[in-house]
Amino acid sequence: MKRIKIEKFRPETLEIYNYFKQQSGSEHIAKPTTIEILLDICREQQPKKILELGGGIGTISYLLLSNSTAQVDIYEDNDFCFNKLEERISPFGDVRFKVIKNYHEMPPAKEYDLVIVDGGSGKGRGKDFDGGYMMAVSDILKCIDPVKTIYVEGYRHIQRWLIFKVLRKKYTYKLIRYDETSFQGKRLSGGLKIECKFSQSKILRLVNFIFWAIVEWYPVRNFISYRFKKLIGK
Ligand SMILES: C[S@@+](CC[C@H](N)C(=O)[O-])C[C@H]1O[C@@H](n2cnc3c(N)ncnc32)[C@H](O)[C@@H]1O
Repeated sequence: MKRIKIEKFRPETLEIYNYFKQQSGSEHIAKPTTIEILLDICREQQPKKILELGGGIGTISYLLLSNSTAQVDIYEDNDFCFNKLEERISPFGDVRFKVIKNYHEMPPAKEYDLVIVDGGSGKGRGKDFDGGYMMAVSDILKCIDPVKTIYVEGYRHIQRWLIFKVLRKKYTYKLIRYDETSFQGKRLSGGLKIECKFSQSKILRLVNFIFWAIVEWYPVRNFISYRFKKLIGK
């Protein structure tokens, strides 16, 4: 698997990160690694339709709207974040983005060039609640056809595994892992880029799925352990 480690951040990345870090409620914003990777994707792939799960206070939404010409659809179900997000991105006008408050709602479009997953897992409690529900990422991805690229922030192993399971029904895919890096004396997680290609061959899709399940074993292991703990009520 291709692995990339980002050692240095561009001034634009740090500018966006520092701007959002000083806002209230910024404990869970996207890390500079993700901002850097998404800036690259915006420049190289020039996506026209983007779907974001977990808008939060708007770090990623703001970067996408200011660095692409894309239409951006965003899921955010927390009231505090919803208001902050709208406040941050309203200068882009209401045609370029749509915020969806309920993860049970279908995405506004069918085709997306880029899907970003940074929320909606249903995990955590109180202020640390990630929004959504466990199967949200599966249910939403099942409504999309086609999708070109998916980016998953941080580790999010259960959501990764759910994504692979949906993709195997229509696509072969390639994983690019962004490794941890250090920033201001702290370890920062990276993320995972998934490049999807429609395939009519069931065999090819199955082989591809098994190959990546072996290479990227952690999401599978964590998903099984999560399900097992739920079963025995832990
Ligand atoms: C990892 S955060 C998303 C961060 C977002 N992508 C950003 O960079 O600003 C995932 C979810 O946690 C919840 N969340 C984040 N910050 C919160 C806060 N200060 N208060 C309550 N919920 C929060 C929101 O529902 C959000 O969608």
